[in-house]
Parts: sequence; C-alpha cells; structure tokens
Amino acid sequence: MKNEKYWETWSDETLKSFQETFIAWYEKEKRNLPWRVNLDPYRIWISEIMLQQTRVDTVIDYYYRFMEWFPTIQDLAEAPDDKLLKAWEGLGYYSRARNLKIAAQQIVTEFNGEMPKTIEEIRQLKGIGPYTAGAIGSIAFQLPEPAIDGNVMRVVSRLFEISDDIAKSSSRKVFEEAMYKIIDQKRPGDFNQAMMDLGSSICTPTSPKCEVCPIQAYCLSYKNNTMTNFPVKSKKLKPKDVYYIGGIIENKEQEFLLSQRDEKGLLANMWLFPIVEVTKERFNFLQKNWAKEDQQMSLNFEEQSMVAEDNSDIFEEFPQVVWQKRTLGEVTHIFSHLKWHILVFYGRQTGLMSIEKNQTWATKENFSNYVFPKPQQKMVELYNQDFRPKD
Ligand code: ADE
Repeated sequence: MKNEKYWETWSDETLKSFQETFIAWYEKEKRNLPWRVNLDPYRIWISEIMLQQTRVDTVIDYYYRFMEWFPTIQDLAEAPDDKLLKAWEGLGYYSRARNLKIAAQQIVTEFNGEMPKTIEEIRQLKGIGPYTAGAIGSIAFQLPEPAIDGNVMRVVSRLFEISDDIAKSSSRKVFEEAMYKIIDQKRPGDFNQAMMDLGSSICTPTSPKCEVCPIQAYCLSYKNNTMTNFPVKSKKLKPKDVYYIGGIIENKEQEFLLSQRDEKGLLANMWLFPIVEVTKERFNFLQKNWAKEDQQMSLNFEEQSMVAEDNSDIFEEFPQVVWQKRTLGEVTHIFSHLKWHILVFYGRQTGLMSIEKNQTWATKENFSNYVFPKPQQKMVELYNQDFRPKD
C-alpha cells in the first residue's frame, strides 16, 4: 500500500458515512470550550493563536482574561504594549501577541474594522499562516478549508497510512489533498474541530485509544495494526545549549534588581533578574565550587558585608555583589531552538554597586507590575522554595 493515496479508494458512500459518523461523535463528545460558545471570528482567531503552541487546559484562563481586557478588535488594535504582554505573560512565543496587535490594526485600516471573510484575505493578516487561516475560515465562516496542525497530521497519517515526513514542510500538500477530499463541505468547522478533539483525546501520540475511536472502521493503520508507525517524523535538531549565571540581588530596602531586555530579539522588553552568559566550562566550574562553598559558609550577612566592602570583586560576572548563598540551583528553559541553563545565586548589593540604564529595583510586591518570561518565574519559584534570607 506504500505511496498509495488510500483516500482515493473511498466511494461516495464510504465518505458520507465516515463524515456522518465523525460529526455525530463530535456532537456528542465535544468539549465545552470558551471559544466554542459562538462563531464570533474575533474570538475564534484569538483562541487559535493561543492554541498554536499551547495546550487547551493552559489556554482557557488566559483566554478569558484576554477577552475581558480586549473585548473587540478595536480594543486590541489600541492595546498598550505592556498590557498586551502582561496578558500573554507565561504563554511563551511572545511574537504571537505582538503580531495579534499588528493584525488588529490591519483589520481596522484595511478591512473596515471587520474580520475578513475569505481565506486569501485572512492569510494577509500578520501572524496568520495556513493552519490558522483554515481554522478561522472553517469555524467562523464555514469555508471548506482544512486546518492542518500536528494533531491533524497524526490522525490523517494513521487513517490513510501516509508515510510522508510530517517534519518537512513539503509534506503538507499530501495532507491537504487528503483533507480536501474528506472534509465535510457543509460543516467544515465542526469537522476540523472533531479532528482536533480526536487527536488530543483518542488518537494520541503514544498508545492511541483505538478501541473507543469513532472512525476505527475507516482507519487503515488500525486495520493493519500499524498505528504506532505513524506519523513518520524525522528528529528535530536538538536546541542549542546556552549558559548563564543569574543573580537574585537584594538591596537594603528589600528590593530586587531587575533588568529589562532589549526591544528587539528574544523576550523583547521583558524583565528578568540580571543574567550573564558564560561558557559551559565556566558554568560547570562555578556550579561545583559554589556547592562546595555553600556547605562551608555561614549566612551571616554582616560578616560577609564587611569582607565584601573592601574586596567586593567576588566573582567576575557580578562584581560588587555580596554573596549570601551562592547557589539556589539551576533553572532550565527551552525556547524552540535554544535551551537556557541559568545557575542562580542569591546576593546582596554593596555600597559600591551601581545599576545600568535598563535596570531597576523592585519589591516583590511590585513584581506583578512587570512582565516576566517563564525562566524568570522559575527563578522566583526557586528563590521562594529554596531560600528565604533571615536578617
Ligand atoms: N486546538 C487548536 N484549535 C482548537 C480548537 N478550536 N479546539 C480545540 N483544540 C484546538
């Protein structure tokens, strides 16, 4: 059966009964989700952007808040950048939020403030690729367009034993061809969402629950017991390791030092405890040494201060900081192509220490006024659980 387009062998009757069975299952089993309460294209658009790289359970709370803060396209087009980023804090892939605002402005200026209704026009909006355009077009406007993401490729690859590598963008067209053939022309939005629900609840990556699958009778890989051979996916490149030393540095007013990132690039404009990139060798060296020193030293701040004031260059990455507890542990975080390793220490400001233009002091109570990316949240957690300084 290799390289055969199995969907071409389906008769009209097979296709019809497949669609009816599948839609009936969706009607019965569909999850109650906040973006399914009506067909407002704005609501559907926001949900699909959030769901691109984030799981349904995580998205729900963010979604409610986003809709409360920015109830209309106009509100989004005029959103203050810091409020927009705050709404996205912790969701990751922040360019999604920035692109949403740009697209909302496009809608206001180029489409009279109303979501465009054709696939070609929807595709013109910033941040909207074929998947999102298909999802919005089919769900909000009943256009018979597929919405192909990883879940859908998994379902379709098993259904028809498609062995094209799903990691390659060139494979997309074979999945499109299959989906155009099987999509329910009258209820494309429900059909696409049935695919998504099936992919997340039954046709899961490992150990799919074929015994309860509504479309088992149509599934070629079920028939041949080859489910686990599909989808075919070449290995992704490992993310590149990058090493940092991160300082949780407190002053005498119990404020913490925060640094704002550049306005361009990864985590643009967001706030973090200061971090300094180091080599892997340096990282390993400090990790070992700090652990050793932690065991030996007392946490008496006054004693350490006195030493530090005349010999404050404790270590080169963070001169003029009094070290209190050198290692709180390691935080790791993966951004699609990078893996950050941050070795975190707690320290105190010395009288000699000056701060940079992009830095500020903030009390813990005020942290909620800053937009923190995930690695920062992890550093705060590490601090909260591992170490509370006593004076
Ligand atoms: N994943 C992506 N889009 C979705 C949707 N509309 N419903 C459920 N899961 C999804």
